[in-house]
Parts: sequence; structure tokens; C-alpha cells
Amino acid sequence: MSPPATARFKNPRARFNFQGRSVSIAGVGSYLPSRVLTNAELEKMVETSDEWITSRTGIQERRMAAKDEFTSDLATKAALRAMENAAVTAGQIDLIIVATITPDMPFPSTACLVQRKIGARRAAAFDLEAACSGFIYALEIAQQFIMSRTYDTVLVIGAEKLSTIVDWKDRNTCVLFGDGAGAAVLQNRPNTHGLLTAVMGADGEKSDLLFMPGGGSRCPATNESVAARQHYLRMEGKETFKNAIQAMQTAAAECLSRCELDISRIKCIIPHQANRRIIDAVGERLGAKPEQMFVNVHKYGNTSAASVAIALDEAVRSGRVGKGDLILLLVFGAGLTWGAAVIEW
Ligand code: ACO
Repeated sequence: MSPPATARFKNPRARFNFQGRSVSIAGVGSYLPSRVLTNAELEKMVETSDEWITSRTGIQERRMAAKDEFTSDLATKAALRAMENAAVTAGQIDLIIVATITPDMPFPSTACLVQRKIGARRAAAFDLEAACSGFIYALEIAQQFIMSRTYDTVLVIGAEKLSTIVDWKDRNTCVLFGDGAGAAVLQNRPNTHGLLTAVMGADGEKSDLLFMPGGGSRCPATNESVAARQHYLRMEGKETFKNAIQAMQTAAAECLSRCELDISRIKCIIPHQANRRIIDAVGERLGAKPEQMFVNVHKYGNTSAASVAIALDEAVRSGRVGKGDLILLLVFGAGLTWGAAVIEW
């Protein structure tokens, strides 16, 4: 175990008078559907090869939710594991935030469906849409509610059933995505650290790099919109790739500077798991050692808002991070949106 990090960095929140309040990540959990979709299977669906997918993305397989398993089900399973690890009951939860681009339905929110499934009757609930950046956006919002004394216990979930919005005839995108969910319970635990700082960013000028044209007020579902495959995601891969590296590097630098931390002090860097080449490029630009970078993209592909939440849970369960270690989360997604967060575990 590393020595306590308390004296080794600046806590940017310390300049505010929070009277001992601090946000601890009391427990994390994740859930991945059991069905594995391999690159070999994709070779039979579109004109692609295991060699192309592995060398261009690092992805070897991804998980697929069952037909009758929805985003709220994945979210609920991850949430129950996080609650168990945090030793928190449903009755203690004040707020549920679900970050997703694949809600069960446009409304009511998936967060309300999760509230019912876990029996958190006291909790307020809403969904948050920041694509792959949703989990960090949700962490920061949860933290604001806790620091402002509005709530003591917030359940934050990133959950996606991306298999429902992926065009299985488009080899450019269908090899990249998977289903899954990750969750964290944030709690006021005085005089601990937890979430030290978070950066959130957006650039709507680049909203056309990654989007789903159909299903909203601009293009409601019609026979024509379905025939034109408007209800599937579309992506400019190359531009997205470049923007992802730049945005995560900038967000990381901002977070590290706020905490007066050098990258060498971070035990585990958990970037959005979209493409192995993006992860490697970000690590290199930050001057991180390969062993600092957490990678599970080969197993799950890109699970959007669930990605860093699943990875954080795996990092904790596998012992990659322990008490007092510093973690850097980095995200990037449609919007464009991006973010970074420093956590003292
Ligand atoms: N199998 C075989 N060939 C393929 C496949 C495939 N699955 N997909 C594309 N190709 C072909 C292309 O058609 C192209 O062929 P051409 O040269 O004859 O036109 C060739 O491979 C090269 O394509 P590029 O686009 O240059 O490949 P690149 O190296 O850029 O990799 C990729 C593409 C993997 C999509 C990459 O650009 C990428 O990862 N982009 C970022 C995606 C991302 O990070 N998204 C995050 C946000 S997700 C969210 O918010 C939901």
C-alpha cells in the first residue's frame, strides 16, 4: 500500500470552506453481459478481419446485452454491486444520476427505472447525456450536490446498450462498441479526500463528428427514416481520433496543474476505452509509463458512458489501486465533450 497522499498534493477544493465535508467514492461496481461477440464473429457479419480490428483498435471482443436486457437492467446490476461495496442501502440514497446515450426509452429517465428496481424510494433521479464523457460529468455534479450540503449519498451510473444504436452493416463503426455498466456511490465522509478535482469541457461546433440523426425532434421515426438507417450512430473516425487525443491531454494537464501534481505521481491513469491507439498516444503525450495506463478495451470495446466506470471497478478489484493511491480518469465523446478527474482512493 502507498503512503497516505494527503500531504503530497494540493487539494483544489481546500480554498473553499466546506467545514470538513468531502466526497468519498465509497464503493464501485460494474456489470458486463455474459454474451461475448468476438472479432471472428464480426468477420462473418461485415467485410472485416480480426487482424484489422486488433491492429487498428486493440479490440478483441465486446459484450452484448440480451434482447430482454435493457440499459436500466445493466445499470441496476452495477449499482447493486457498488452499493454492496459501499455498504450503503437503497434507503440512504438521495440522488441517482444515470449517464447514458442509450436510455431504455426517451422518457421517463433510465434513472427513474433504476430507482424503482433498486427500491431507492427517497432518491431524486435523472439522466445525463454527455456521451462517453457522461461518467465524469456525473461525478462532478454529484460532488457539487454533496459539497453544497444538498445531499449526502449519490449513486452515479454509466450504462449503455450500444448494440441497439450500432449499424451492424457499417464496418466503420460496428466493430468498435459494446454493452455494459459501471457505478459508484459517492458519499460525504468528513476529512477523507476522494474526488479532488474534475474538468468538464464541450465543443458543440464539432457535434457532426459523432451523432445519431434519427429519433429526436429533428428527425422523428418514420418509415423513411428507418429505411435510411437514420437511427444508428455515425462517426467521422479520423477526426474524432485526433480530437480525442488532444482533448484528453489538455483536460489531464488542467487537472494535474490544479493539484500541483506531476504525472509520475499518478498510480493509475484510466482513459476512456475507445481505441488502444488513442490510449497509447495519450499516455505518451502525458509522459506516462505504460504500466500507469489502465487498459481493458480488448475485452469490452467502447462502452461509452460506462467505459471508465467499468475500468475503475476493475482497477480496484484487481488491486491495481489501493488506499491513498492517486487515479486520473480521462474521457472523451460525442458533443464533442471531454473531461478529467483526479481521485485519491
Ligand atoms: N475492417 C476493415 N477495414 C475497415 C474497417 C473494418 N472494420 N473499418 C474501416 N475500414 C477501412 C476504411 O474503409 C478505410 O479504407 P479505405 O482506405 O479503402 O477508405 C481503411 O480501413 C482505413 O480507415 P481509417 O478511417 O483511416 O482507419 P483509422 O486508422 O482512422 O481507424 C477508427 C478507424 C478505428 C474508427 C479510428 O479512427 C478511431 O478509433 N476513431 C475514434 C473513435 C472514438 O474514439 N470514438 C470515441 C467517441 S465514442 C462516443 O462518444 C459514443
